Amino acid sequence: MICAASLVSASDGKSLFDTNCAKCHGTDGKGATKMGMKAGAKDLTDAKVQAELTDAKISTSIKEGIKEGDKTKMKAFPDLSADDIQALVGYVKSLKK
Ligand code: HEC
Repeated sequence: MICAASLVSASDGKSLFDTNCAKCHGTDGKGATKMGMKAGAKDLTDAKVQAELTDAKISTSIKEGIKEGDKTKMKAFPDLSADDIQALVGYVKSLKK
């Protein structure tokens, strides 16, 4: 059962990512999309980038977005539920090469 449950949340994470995040981060997380390159999205599959990511940091970035001064680099996703965010955190971490 534990296995089945984690499989379900992993696939939810992927579909949530494809829907909400892939526009900038790419379905592969590398950020090599037009919008991603313009916005300066990092390669989320890069071990160096992943080394700086904690679960808390990822979930805060999703909930509150990322700003540099008053410029929004990554928009916030206030409508995602705690479960959705948890699934996305797991998915982002699974992108590590
Ligand atoms: C409008 C484009 C855009 C969208 C949509 C977007 N991001 Fe981002 N994201 C960025 C940019 C740009 C950065 C790099 C910001 C920086 O250099 O600190 C980033 C950084 C990140 C980071 C790593 C940096 C950190 O401090 O946490 C994670 C993880 C992340 N995004 C996850 C997501 C997830 C999950 C979604 C979907 C819910 C998402 N992003 C949607 C543009 C976007």
